[in-house]
Amino acid sequence: MGMPLLLLLLILVAAGPQAGRAAKPIPNLQLMTKEGGSSRIIQDDIIKAINKHPNAGWTAARNPYFANYTTAQFKHILGVKPTPHSVLNDVPVKTYPRSLMLPKEFDARSAWSQCNTIGTILDQGHCGSCWAFGAVECLQDRFCIHFNMNISLSVNDLVACCGFMCGDGCDGGYPIMAWRYFVRNGVVTDECDPYFDQVGCKHPGCEPAYPTPVCEKKCKRSTKMAL
Ligand SMILES: *[C@@H]1O[C@H](CO)[C@@H](O)[C@H](O)[C@H]1NC(C)=O
Ligand SMILES: *[C@@H]1O[C@H](CO)[C@@H](O)[C@H](O)[C@H]1NC(C)=O
Repeated sequence: MGMPLLLLLLILVAAGPQAGRAAKPIPNLQLMTKEGGSSRIIQDDIIKAINKHPNAGWTAARNPYFANYTTAQFKHILGVKPTPHSVLNDVPVKTYPRSLMLPKEFDARSAWSQCNTIGTILDQGHCGSCWAFGAVECLQDRFCIHFNMNISLSVNDLVACCGFMCGDGCDGGYPIMAWRYFVRNGVVTDECDPYFDQVGCKHPGCEPAYPTPVCEKKCKRSTKMAL
């Protein structure tokens, strides 16, 4: 879930009235050090601090899904590892002028309303696999935008089979390496290799965390197509 949040923040920064200027961080939110990670992630004083901040640009509220997560448990599902600089060397950079006019609003769900994967929020359970969810969801959305097909691709294939190249599976990974995995290996459909943690997890009660699923190079269910 770290990836979508990051993207959301980037969109807010880009679309807000301060476009072109870096948004100032809201001070005094020392989340990660408070009480050694055992306090609840959602705290009323943080919600209040955000909501009375004039430049926050969004409204904070309680999300019941995360109601019982401690800071440490929440941190575990933020599974994006920082991209190593050496990997970025051969990534092409696209630059746009600051004067570029951006639309006031943009919603991918209505721009490509024929694509039912866009706007669907999947559940990573309590595995630190947001790096894989972000990449797979993005790829399946692009399949729909470019080829006009609804398709669900397998996060499990990526988490289980990319291995060391992508990082540490349920303990976090590199989004950029997920894309390299797609290029080199392709990825099967979700129907062929469904996500291992179907139930998800309600905190408290998820410990010990599930280990990364084992890679199996065959469909767990019969399927018509594998990409
Ligand atoms: C995708 O699925 C939805 C719902 O079943 C359908 O309305 C839509 O037309 C489909 N889109 C494409 C591109 O096939
Ligand atoms: C959070 O914990 C309370 C008390 O243990 C429980 O009643 C509630 O269902 C839990 N919420 C979630 C979303 O797991």
